[in-house]
Amino acid sequence: MAEKKDVIILSIETSCDETSVALVKNGRWILSNVISSQIEIHKPYGGVVPEIASRHHLENINKVTEKALKDSDLTFSHVDVVAVTYGPGLVGALLIGIATAKAYAYSLSVPLVGVDHMASHMAANYIEHKDLKPPFTSLIISGGHTQLVRVKDYNLWEILGETRDDAVGEAFDKVARILGLGYPGGPLVEEAALTGDSEKVYFKRVYLEKDSYDFSFSGVKTAVLNYVNSNRQKDEEININDIAAGFQEAVFTVLVDKSIRAAKEEETGKLVIAGGVAANKRLRELLRKRCYEEGLELYYPQLLLSTDNAAMVGSAGYYLFKEGKVKDLDLDAYPNLRMDHGHNLC
Ligand code: KG4
Ligand code: ZN
Repeated sequence: MAEKKDVIILSIETSCDETSVALVKNGRWILSNVISSQIEIHKPYGGVVPEIASRHHLENINKVTEKALKDSDLTFSHVDVVAVTYGPGLVGALLIGIATAKAYAYSLSVPLVGVDHMASHMAANYIEHKDLKPPFTSLIISGGHTQLVRVKDYNLWEILGETRDDAVGEAFDKVARILGLGYPGGPLVEEAALTGDSEKVYFKRVYLEKDSYDFSFSGVKTAVLNYVNSNRQKDEEININDIAAGFQEAVFTVLVDKSIRAAKEEETGKLVIAGGVAANKRLRELLRKRCYEEGLELYYPQLLLSTDNAAMVGSAGYYLFKEGKVKDLDLDAYPNLRMDHGHNLC
């Protein structure tokens, strides 16, 4: 009998406010990637409300799965593996995806793979860049996490540094609120900064200890708040766009410096960026320039694959499956899962 070579993965992502299901072939090719965003639902609250997120995942997950199958022109019978995000993320939201994944894996009699959300952000680059292989240095920047990672192999990595307080996306969201820009903050701060002058408002760059790869962003967020409050008290006019530009520059200067230093010291020659904040065009521009000057190759995914989606889960899941790292049907959600020293923890 001819050996079946292709591996078709049905992947599910529900860690935050996107219900997404994808079909991915051999970890690199997207057959479909349906993303149902809840942004409009959470907008009036100024941020994601966990209970509401879970309820909408539950209402949408089957419809999104049906659409993903339809878009791929496949049926359940083609599915070889089910992959699902099992942390980090909102526990109630994760559980909806996990319960669905378990039901499909059980009823189809196929293996179940549990995927770390941060590792999947990174894996978005395997879809975008078909020839990208570890080792490389990766900066993963999302709403909940900020990590500088040495990726030694597909399932083997070491965290070089991470944030000691706010994640970078979280800082963007809070600054957007301070500036009255609304939710979600990242793209709105980016847009405001486009017409702002970063040299008009300077915020301190926070590097921590000399050799540290860790980050701290709560100081710059507080500095923005203090700047706004003190000017308002003095009845002085503030320019939101200049503040947004000044904030972005303060945060990105440190992110760029540390990731370039890590890529050089680790001698991987490649810097791979991932996560929602990696969608930011100013950050991409700064990194492109520095990587060119330093002789490093820079990789990033297209915008749709930077923010939460299930295709990236299908890519990360493929490499776990290839190494036999499958889960039992008692898989649980790990809201604080941490990609750590190569061990897929739970
Ligand atoms: O990776 P992601 O979609 O979800 C999490 O895993 O958190 O990242 C969402 C975060 C939010 O904090 C959002 O404000 C930020 O990424 N973000 C951006 C941009 N687009 C999304 N931050 C800066 N500039 C952007 N263009
Ligand atoms: Zn994410």
